Amino acid sequence: MAVGVDDTPGWRSDSLEDLEAGLLLEAIHRHYGFDFRQYSPASLRRRLRKRMEDEGLGSLSLLQHELLHEPAAMERLLLDLSINVTAMFRDPGFYASFREHVVPLLRTYPYFRVWHAGCSTGEEVYSMAILLHEEGLLDRARIYATDMNEAVLDQARAGIFPLDRMKDHTTNYVKAGGTAAFSDYYLAKYDGALFHRWLIDNVVFAPHNLASDGPFNEFHVVVCRNVMIYFDTPLQNRVHDLFRESLVRRGVLALGAKESIRFTSAEEHFEEIDRQWKIYRGRA
Ligand SMILES: C[S@@+](CC[C@H](N)C(=O)[O-])C[C@H]1O[C@@H](n2cnc3c(N)ncnc32)[C@H](O)[C@@H]1O
Repeated sequence: MAVGVDDTPGWRSDSLEDLEAGLLLEAIHRHYGFDFRQYSPASLRRRLRKRMEDEGLGSLSLLQHELLHEPAAMERLLLDLSINVTAMFRDPGFYASFREHVVPLLRTYPYFRVWHAGCSTGEEVYSMAILLHEEGLLDRARIYATDMNEAVLDQARAGIFPLDRMKDHTTNYVKAGGTAAFSDYYLAKYDGALFHRWLIDNVVFAPHNLASDGPFNEFHVVVCRNVMIYFDTPLQNRVHDLFRESLVRRGVLALGAKESIRFTSAEEHFEEIDRQWKIYRGRA
């Protein structure tokens, strides 16, 4: 939080709470590598207060202590900060590009592994499974879907998504080049859409923290979209190195539209497949 720039009525920029909030964000940044210091102070203050109250704590300093010593509390704060937001076929242009540029490469392998790092509640994993199924490649794929947050992984495993979001997801699916009726992939039950289990027969959901865990397999494709936006440069570099170590020779790396390896030390190791959709391929 940029201390002293909040003009919320009743929010004194020199208040003790303001000081505590600044120190807390600094501590999160230094310990976890998440940089929320430029977040809008008003909404941040609301969410920090809510987390403080829900944890039964009397001050932001106590919350700071809790967050540093109890990673599960940090996960709950991340949920509060809504950094788990995701969608089916999010950025349809990315999936269209993946079909056009990456699918032909995948066809050359008898068997391949895909890693979705930071998969949140799994919408992008189900999207990828649908895309690979439509390209006749799902049987050849093994998908590893990881996130640091166990709560979102449980939702991903369950494969039930709010029915009221299906209209938007269907629009994305069509724009992404979907070749069937999107509703073929789920059963509508009450207010939920239950996706067919065969889509995730070859999917392993598991916890993995990009800030602290190491490589665990070799992948032909690594997809890590909209995860590194809150990471500082050292943490981004760590994750780029982790992905390089995890990719097979000439493997594919896909990042979010607002993320890039340009001007990083990873840049020289990759060539661009699609500049707009941040799809890269390891150099020979
Ligand atoms: C905005 S969501 C992105 C979801 C999906 N990849 C997409 O593009 O729609 C970011 C996800 O990254 C996860 N995440 C954040 N920091 C992480 C870390 N250090 N290791 C693993 N996952 C992390 C969060 O828990 C969250 O689920």
